[in-house]
Amino acid sequence: MFDVPAAIQCQMDLQSQNTLALPVTSAYFAEPDTLESLIDVISWANLQGLPIMPLGGGSNVVFCHDWPGLVIKYGERSLVVDDSLADSVLIKVAAGFEWHALVLHCVASGWFGIENLALIPGSVGAAPIQNIGAYGVELCDVLASVSGVYIETGEVFLLENAQCEFAYRDSIFKQALAGKVLITHVTLKLSKQFTAQLHYPALAAAIVNPQPSANEVVQAVISIRQSKLPDPLVIPNVGSFFKNPLVNNYHLSSLLERYPAMPYYPQANGQAKLAAGWLIEQAGWKGKSLGLVAMHAQQALVLTSQPGATAADVLRLAACVQADVAALFDVRLQIEPQVIEHV
Ligand code: EPU
Repeated sequence: MFDVPAAIQCQMDLQSQNTLALPVTSAYFAEPDTLESLIDVISWANLQGLPIMPLGGGSNVVFCHDWPGLVIKYGERSLVVDDSLADSVLIKVAAGFEWHALVLHCVASGWFGIENLALIPGSVGAAPIQNIGAYGVELCDVLASVSGVYIETGEVFLLENAQCEFAYRDSIFKQALAGKVLITHVTLKLSKQFTAQLHYPALAAAIVNPQPSANEVVQAVISIRQSKLPDPLVIPNVGSFFKNPLVNNYHLSSLLERYPAMPYYPQANGQAKLAAGWLIEQAGWKGKSLGLVAMHAQQALVLTSQPGATAADVLRLAACVQADVAALFDVRLQIEPQVIEHV
């Protein structure tokens, strides 16, 4: 055994730290709120040879087992504004800031661009990992840079937007840098001028005012989300459980012949994005449960869990849904949240 610094808790129950409420523990847990204390806990874990896992709000992870090392939740919540530009502001926000609180703070401050991303659960530090997106806006549209620390060495890094390899629900942090870095700060470039972004039909339909304020857009996004997406604090879930799949135009045409009413979104590269929720509903899984987990009755793309459900239950349901959607549409659904399987 080794000495455990006071800043590190042992045998931490992570059930309230992941929004699927899966019953898992971490051998060690720390919530440092300065860069110095973060580097201290990283060095300690590296010295003991313990695996390190960064965690944000826990709203996009599926823990498959207890974590044998150190889980680090970076707690700093600072926000620093650079107002030296004429039309925009740069805001550097620490990872521990809650995402939705940031959206509200920005709108109240007259900084615009993230209204459509209201009510997305989770922390600012987790937002770049899956490049959060909703109602026609993605984080990468407003992100300037991401900084953090390499887990292996404790060295700091800074990546500009173009280096983050952002794509639909994807980034370098889910790919080459997965498990290798801990994000401490995100810098956004927001506009001082509000322009409503209403190209997503469901959002446009929810707004009556032809020139809505930023606040009206935020309120419309909140009410659409609340009507379809379960509150993770009431019904445990991680939002969309699968990505919307991409198919080529040939595949799209053959599906449209069989399902003329199928929703789809043409993409720039000769592909089309399908609505996974629609595919899952057609496959008969909307509102259907398998043991203690279910596909949500208001939005089939959301997998929900009940007390006592385990990761095995979650992955079993996911596999059944994937198999039925593949059999019907020849489309392979990819799981969207991070599945923490092996150390
Ligand atoms: N649909 C169904 N049945 C369902 C669900 C959806 O037929 O059970 C149909 C809808 O009628 C609509 C289409 O599918 O024609 C799209 O549905 P929706 O507008 O609800 O959006 P989505 O494609 O299912 C995506 C994101 C959401 C995001 C919304 C709004 C992904 C994986 N999901 O869902 O993001 O809020 O668009 O932009 O891209 C998340 O990532 O956790 C998330 C909730």
